[in-house]
Amino acid sequence: MASLTGKKVLLGITGGIAAYKTPDLVRKLKAKGADVRVVLTASAKEFVSPLALQAVSANPVSTDLLDPAAEAAMGHIELARWADIILIAPASANSIARLSAGLADDLLTTICLASQAELVIAPAMNQQMYNATATQHNLQTLRSRGVRQLGPAAGEQACGEVGPGRMPEPQELADALVLQSDVKALSGVCVMITAGPTQEALDPVRYLTNHSSGKMGYALAQAAAEAGAQVILVSGPVSLNAPDTCELRSVYSAEQMLDAVMQDISKVDIFIGCAAVSDYRPVASEAHKIKKTETDKLTLTLIKNPDILANVAALPAPPFTVGFAAETQKVKQYAQHKLAAKKLNMIAANDVSEKGIGFNSDSNALSVFWQKGETSLPVTDKLNLARQLVQLVAVKYKENKEK
Ligand code: C5P
Repeated sequence: MASLTGKKVLLGITGGIAAYKTPDLVRKLKAKGADVRVVLTASAKEFVSPLALQAVSANPVSTDLLDPAAEAAMGHIELARWADIILIAPASANSIARLSAGLADDLLTTICLASQAELVIAPAMNQQMYNATATQHNLQTLRSRGVRQLGPAAGEQACGEVGPGRMPEPQELADALVLQSDVKALSGVCVMITAGPTQEALDPVRYLTNHSSGKMGYALAQAAAEAGAQVILVSGPVSLNAPDTCELRSVYSAEQMLDAVMQDISKVDIFIGCAAVSDYRPVASEAHKIKKTETDKLTLTLIKNPDILANVAALPAPPFTVGFAAETQKVKQYAQHKLAAKKLNMIAANDVSEKGIGFNSDSNALSVFWQKGETSLPVTDKLNLARQLVQLVAVKYKENKEK
């Protein structure tokens, strides 16, 4: 597993109760090999002692923008240049709003504006504050600028409420930062992704299809390209623009999708089957439009489509193969069964019975399973989720290759 060896991590701590966990977070980051410097906001000092953070980080802790002594030692511009990664944990609703507005009225926000380092935030706050339209809008703005978001986890909160808003545990944050820090994790790797629905023609003007928007597959294509991969996107009909850096193969039917996949599969290292492929197609597409008749019933005969994912996994030298599973119940059980039955390396499952996530929505949450483990990626927008999944796939792909 990759580490943070040699990485300079600037930990920004803002005012929230989760700040009490940050001395442990510093220790976990240092255990991964990071050099850690801490910047505290004024309100963070109310929750955690600068002295404790200085002791565990073995570096001076910075708190003030306008402190002549601190500026003479390592000023805000030097700190901004020093950092490879800026991790803000916990990131309060207030600090998220200030970052999104581009304010520079304290040391931490000034450093963020002045730095080219990767910015990672771990929001932590009351669940109502997290779900507030303003906070969600600010987070969306930050993510669209390339800021990475870790968490929040859901559960019981310090205020007694239950919901999303908890800072992930220090060990989880440190592990996630390792994944995030490997920005070109797929450099030199060819990734093929299927996306969108398929259309199965009934006649020249009608077809069978489903509600897949293609958003998750396209987000994965973008995330894989950002991670340095050569990306081949085999897409059913959708109204999305493919990222410029991807090679797009547009198809309609499942059979066309299988052909397009098999055409290039020999050069593919990682295959991600994200398309909602129609399980069945009409036995034959009529040459002419099916005419309305006097009888009330029309019987269509369907035949099973090839399972593209299973075909890829069954190749003599298959790529690292990742499937998706949309389930409405027993998500873990069905996903693990599919992982084994289709001989996949990994499967990402979502519960499409949950409102507001999955099919045709902008957000999603995934439970990911592989042979010897599992993890869950909490609900967030599809691009953010895709970036996390791609980093996980990259790690498991490399582990698999080294076997
Ligand atoms: O078995 P089920 O359809 O639930 O499996 C879903 C997974 O299999 C998805 O990754 C989907 O892209 C893939 N699949 C496929 N070809 C099919 C049906 C599903 O590649 N004909």
